[in-house]
Amino acid sequence: MHQKVTIEPFRIKVVEQIRLTSDEERRNFLKKADYNLFLLHSDEVIIDLLTDSGTSAMSAEQWGGIMRGDESYAGARSWLRMEAEIKNLTGYPYILPTHQGRAAEHLLYSRIGGPGKVFISNTHFDTTRANIEFSGATAVDIPIAAALHPEAYHPFKGNLDIEKLEALIRLHGADKVGAVILTVTNNTGGGQPVSLANARAISKATKAHGIRFILDACRIAENAYFIKQREEGYQDMSYREIAQEMFALADGCIMSAKKDGLVNMGGFLALNDHELAVQCRTVLIITEGYSTYGGLSGRDMEAIAIGLQEVFEPDYLEYRIKSTAYLGQHLRNIGVPLIWPAGGHAIYVDAKAFYPHIPVEEFPGQALACELYLKAGIRSCEIGSVMFGKNNEQGQLIPAAMELVRLAIPRRVYTQSHIDYVVEAFRELVQERERVHGYRIAYEPPFLRHFTARFQPVVH
Ligand code: F0G
Repeated sequence: MHQKVTIEPFRIKVVEQIRLTSDEERRNFLKKADYNLFLLHSDEVIIDLLTDSGTSAMSAEQWGGIMRGDESYAGARSWLRMEAEIKNLTGYPYILPTHQGRAAEHLLYSRIGGPGKVFISNTHFDTTRANIEFSGATAVDIPIAAALHPEAYHPFKGNLDIEKLEALIRLHGADKVGAVILTVTNNTGGGQPVSLANARAISKATKAHGIRFILDACRIAENAYFIKQREEGYQDMSYREIAQEMFALADGCIMSAKKDGLVNMGGFLALNDHELAVQCRTVLIITEGYSTYGGLSGRDMEAIAIGLQEVFEPDYLEYRIKSTAYLGQHLRNIGVPLIWPAGGHAIYVDAKAFYPHIPVEEFPGQALACELYLKAGIRSCEIGSVMFGKNNEQGQLIPAAMELVRLAIPRRVYTQSHIDYVVEAFRELVQERERVHGYRIAYEPPFLRHFTARFQPVVH
């Protein structure tokens, strides 16, 4: 059959009720939440695209594994299974389980960070940057130039700028560089993939200077899909083999299993370096738990071991990436400006271009996120000046580089009709752009303001 529709390669065994709210209810909910979508209750949301992290639907196999989970304190069967799976996948011999990605980041960057150290990445995810800066070190982002142009096509817009890397190593001296961290796919840069050629060039440069190379591998299966489709020479390799080739270029990885591990909780640190692993393991035992469970239950570890296999299944990955691209393509067709091409796990709408009449001081991304909720009960996430903007000494906003709204797609959770509903909502928002106003911040905490800030509509 000449198949045009990409069908979900699963059928649904357990369902979770969605409460369908009215326009008036949503107006009240949003007002009560002070126009901050993080402060909504999940029952007040129809389609939740806040994050793809920890929101996956697990398979019947994984739920079966949950029952088989071995909860022994030390040397549990489930741990041995998870450890073997990760060793086999990554090739790294030392595996440290953690309750999620940022805990693994803490283990590593509290050891290899510290004042005077510099970390270099295509783009540090915010918890990565926070862990590095918390240690007293500096984090520098060097994505390729194309990454800063939302509409410019590049097959691997997540790549790191190799020339800048060489220049930074010369500037700081190799002994000051704590690690080069490659985030695959590059979440903050639009969920864009990184090529194997780029990873190989980084590997060559870091090896030549004796610098550690770490992968932030939480979406490495999605990244492997793009490599097989777009990079010359990988068409005959499996997705898993492509990921393995990338792991082999680095000295270790951090993974939040809440993404491509297809689980609701979990993560790990995996390393080649025995001495460093011993140091990190000490922090693991002090802060997370004994070294054969970290912060995890036996059942969580069982589910991760299975999830890491399922995520590389070709039918799954095909559906996953094509369904994200489907949303991106349909939004683009109706004139919604977005980061192009579509990323792996999310679509990033360019809110500054969508609402050109709203000044950045009035947060066009926040305005779009609120409109999308009011219109259709869809929860998204502002990634712009609310999240990354700072105030100067005169209290004026130093805006973020871009004003984006992320529509992150949970794995195996929503069907095509849910996605069509999102497109329908945007179709109306496109017609109503002029009447939309911005917001001002009425309250903000000293750090990470986007989680708890309170907003007020700006009515001119
Ligand atoms: N690295 C990347 C690239 C991430 O996207 C995340 C989490 C982490 C590390 C930290 O992992 O949440 O398990 O501690 N990203 C989520 C998101 C929160 O919504 O993009 P964690």
